[in-house]
Amino acid sequence: MLGECTNLPTDDRLASIFELLGSQSVSDIISETPDTNDGKEFSGLARSLTNAARQALKKLGQYNEKDKRLPRLHLLILSGTHILVGLAYRTQSSPNAGGIMHLKLPKDAPSRAILKLEEAAISLLTIPEREHWLRSGMSAVDLGAAPGGWTWWLAQQGLLITAIDNANMSEAVMKTGQVEHIRADGFAWHPRHSVHWLCCDMVEQPDRVATLVTKWLKEGWAQAALFNLKLPMKKRYGMIQECMATLNTLRDTHVLRAQQLYHDREEITVLALPIA
Ligand SMILES: C[S@@+](CC[C@H](N)C(=O)[O-])C[C@H]1O[C@@H](n2cnc3c(N)ncnc32)[C@H](O)[C@@H]1O
Repeated sequence: MLGECTNLPTDDRLASIFELLGSQSVSDIISETPDTNDGKEFSGLARSLTNAARQALKKLGQYNEKDKRLPRLHLLILSGTHILVGLAYRTQSSPNAGGIMHLKLPKDAPSRAILKLEEAAISLLTIPEREHWLRSGMSAVDLGAAPGGWTWWLAQQGLLITAIDNANMSEAVMKTGQVEHIRADGFAWHPRHSVHWLCCDMVEQPDRVATLVTKWLKEGWAQAALFNLKLPMKKRYGMIQECMATLNTLRDTHVLRAQQLYHDREEITVLALPIA
């Protein structure tokens, strides 16, 4: 972030923004508002500010849309007089407006949770990784699977899934014919033969989940894992650091990627993929 502009004069917001930008050239300007009803009020201002800033930076010779290596100028409009100003390179920022990946819930999906898994697969895996790791005939264990959104999505990709949960799985999921449902405690059960994927969406303490997933991967019960760490009410950052320290003991064998997804901001989703 470059800085925060407060008490902006409404007849000239750009001067303070450009002061923070200095002589830096940019390849684009992205003005956004918070994803709230109050935030939407400023979407007109976001459009006009983008246009005005683009014209002004062109005149100053600080705008080159062809040079994609240049950062983009980000303006987060909190009100007509309060704007956060930042710079971000394309490779380090979301391609979606506001960082929001809009996904459609399929009509027959058993739960909204499938949107989390779909967003995770798109955000955390590259296209070649998705093609390699989400193929027909591959196997997965889904811990905390009920009512079955994640299991259903995995079945749509052609995987065969063992769903672990004491609660009931939806009929639509069981009808796929690709799912075995075992009523068991996800912390006690493990497969006899290694599976490709361990998925875990159990509502449990994040440090317990991090320890469990680490054990699965070290024991070779699964090759890769995709799972959620539910954020506690307090000391969220500290807890995630603690979980990542546990997971980092896998760094010689696995690549780890973690992200707070739009479709569930109360958790951190983590991917562990074996190093090729
Ligand atoms: C958020 S829901 C999972 C939603 C699911 N991923 C979906 O897409 O429909 C959490 C599930 O974890 C299960 N769960 C919590 N603790 C568990 C445990 N120790 N063993 C097995 N399942 C557990 C709960 O029964 C609940 O069904």
